[in-house]
Amino acid sequence: MDLLPFTAAVAERTRPIYDRMARVMPAAEWPVHAPLVDAINTLKRAKNAVILAHNYQVPEIFWGVADIVGDSLQLAREAQRVQAETIVVCGVHFMGETAKILNPQRRVIVPDKRAGCSLADSITAADVRALRRKYPGVPIVTYVNTSAEVKAESDICCTSSNPVQVVESLGVPRVLMIPDEYLAAYVAANTSVEILSWKGHCEVHERFRAIDIERLREDDDGIVILAHPECPPDVIDAADFAGSTAGMIDFVRDHPTRRVMLLTECSMSDNVAAQFPNVEFVRPCNLCPHMRRNTLGKVLHALQTFEDEIVVDPEVADRARIAVQRMIDLAAVAR
Ligand code: 13P
Ligand code: SF4
Repeated sequence: MDLLPFTAAVAERTRPIYDRMARVMPAAEWPVHAPLVDAINTLKRAKNAVILAHNYQVPEIFWGVADIVGDSLQLAREAQRVQAETIVVCGVHFMGETAKILNPQRRVIVPDKRAGCSLADSITAADVRALRRKYPGVPIVTYVNTSAEVKAESDICCTSSNPVQVVESLGVPRVLMIPDEYLAAYVAANTSVEILSWKGHCEVHERFRAIDIERLREDDDGIVILAHPECPPDVIDAADFAGSTAGMIDFVRDHPTRRVMLLTECSMSDNVAAQFPNVEFVRPCNLCPHMRRNTLGKVLHALQTFEDEIVVDPEVADRARIAVQRMIDLAAVAR
């Protein structure tokens, strides 16, 4: 793609956007991003599109072009309220599928459809059917980080912000939680319901180690450590709080503190640091290579061409919607 010029007009139009992320982006970098940000914001209005971005997106997408940001549950809920003809999901493939499942009549695009997820890749619909045969009558709670086909075989979905609530809503003594073994262990530690699990892992969160937390605390015993529930159980035990990406942001907002470490994908620390200028963020940099596939250039290309549209078989989408909607309805009751 030809480089778009950083003109005085672009600089002026995009200044308020840059100001929001100035804490995490050097001024010298902005002339590279600003023309793309400006072009995307103009084109999305012209094409009646809305951009949803996950909390892990790079600051120039998160602050620069997104209309709605959030964790998986917030994005799923918001996807349902969208009125625009086209939804661009800056996240990974399963997030685009969730938006499509909830909006079968709208065009849903992920800027790079190759953006996968190690958890979604860890289980197939045939695996879920085999689990049903092995554990007849045991409900299957499926993390949203899965394909539409897997969701279609499930009783209800959950995200990292509501897994205990979803499990307990079923009112049964035993459930199967797929595919994240560590999320299942986190739930098992917080409920009396027996949890059967699958051996899927997030390739980003499984790399965190409890020993690193201990060392950090030796240097600074005042540091507050927040972990995503996709982390291994000993990491969650060593942290001060475990919650979804949105749960971590809420925690920082509600518990003013001097120094925080977020044990999650590291673009998230940039996005949160921009919001809380008085907090110092320690950033162990584990990047999600799938989330990183999204760039401003690809977002612009997606809006120009409508390539990389998400397609879900309507029959699969109808069955998957039941499991996703059940979770959304539960979250609405709990609010
Ligand atoms: P959240 O729902 O907490 O944003 O997590 C999504 C995800 O992929 C975490 O790795
Ligand atoms: Fe999947 Fe982990 Fe990347 Fe989240 S961070 S999208 S769970 S691989």
